[in-house]
Formats: sequence, C-alpha cells, structure tokens
Amino acid sequence: MSTHINDKAHFAKTVLMPGDPKRAKWIAENFLADYEEVSNVRGILAFTGHTQEGKEISVMASGMGVPSIGIYSYELFTCYGVENIIRIGTCGGYQKECHVGDVIIATSASSNSNYASHYSNKGVHVAPCSDFSLMLKAYENALKLNIPVHAGPIFSSDIFYDPDPEFYKIPMELGILGVEMESYGLFLNAMRLKKKALCLLTVSDTFVNKEEKDMTQEERQSSLVKMVTLALSLA
Ligand code: HPA
Repeated sequence: MSTHINDKAHFAKTVLMPGDPKRAKWIAENFLADYEEVSNVRGILAFTGHTQEGKEISVMASGMGVPSIGIYSYELFTCYGVENIIRIGTCGGYQKECHVGDVIIATSASSNSNYASHYSNKGVHVAPCSDFSLMLKAYENALKLNIPVHAGPIFSSDIFYDPDPEFYKIPMELGILGVEMESYGLFLNAMRLKKKALCLLTVSDTFVNKEEKDMTQEERQSSLVKMVTLALSLA
C-alpha cells in the first residue's frame, strides 16, 4: 500500500526521475514509443510505456529536495517492484571544466542534509553513492553515443537560496563537480533497500565560470535531450 502514488499504478523495473512533473510528461511525449499516465497524486505525474527499442520504462517526477525524492523513491522501491531509479536533473557547476550544458554522471553525493542521520550511529558516516553497474553502463553508453560526460562526486544541498554566497567554495575545493538537491536521499534509499540508483545531471548554471550565462528555458530543454538519451539507453 503506497501513500503518495496511485495504488493501482504499474511501473517498469527502471524508472527515470526528473524533478519536474512537466518534464516527466515531456519525456513521455517526446521519447517513448507508447505510454500511459499511471499516477498523478499531488500533481506528481508518472508514466509507464516503452522505449523506441521496445523496452518497458517508467518516468515519474520526484519533486524538489531530499525529503520529496526520499518519499517517492522509497514507495517505488518497496511497493511497486522497481529495481532501478535513474535521477535526471540539473545542477549548478562547481568546477571550471563543468560548462553550462555539460552532462555529469554523479558517482557519490555529499550533503548538508540530515537524511542519513539515522544511519550515522557509533561514528559511522554513510557515503551515499550511485550503483557501480549502472554507472559503468552509463559511462560505456555515453562513449558509444558520443555524449561527452564528466564523472565525479556531487553535492546535494538542502538550501537553494544560501545566505552565505561563499559557501560553494567548501565543496568546490574538495573537487565536487556540482550542486543539486536530491541525489543524497535517493542513493541512501537504494543502499538501504538493496536496490540500484544512478544520477545524471545537466549543468544549468555555474558558480565558477562567471562569463557563462545560465541556461534559458529553451536551452535547458534541448541540452536535456543528451541526458535523456543516455538515461533511456539504460532501460
Ligand atoms: N543549487 C541547487 N540546485 C540546483 C542548482 C543550484 O545552484 N542549479 C540547479 N539545481
């Protein structure tokens, strides 16, 4: 019994998870051979259908932030037989080599979130990370599809509007590639439930390449095509 997703919904073993419900719909409409809407509780749209190659796949929005993706990924993993969740989102770039429009494969997520505190007993600090088999496949497929990618650690922040404008320098100096707001919760749920998770990100803005402009809504949409193509290759 699921609290936040339509009980009768059918999901594929692999679910792509953008943050925005409208983006989930856009992916279903533009990339899938066929699909049906399977849930819309609280406006969080979910679709199940097939890729152009005939593989079953679902797309469902996560909403924003660790608590939101924490709820939806937990219910997908525990109530609907989902095995793989691939987050597809945007991030702010922390490194000079991560330009607006580039794609990142997140290998692990550090955070200022409290989400892992229940697992942080007796000196243990959990390091939530992507599943290695999914990461490897994503990297190999990116090479085959000629999609340039950066692979490395990211930061999942609980705060979008940080009161400290210099905060980014801390993760930046640790070599962290960029900042988003969800992967830490998704990775932790997958580790806890013995499932698989991966996060692919498009750099939508940058903290370090000051001359680069943030993406417009249209640029955001078109550069997402590379990331969605890569995510769908993992179905
Ligand atoms: N901060 C947090 N999340 C984000 C950002 C950011 O700058 N850009 C895209 N997602």
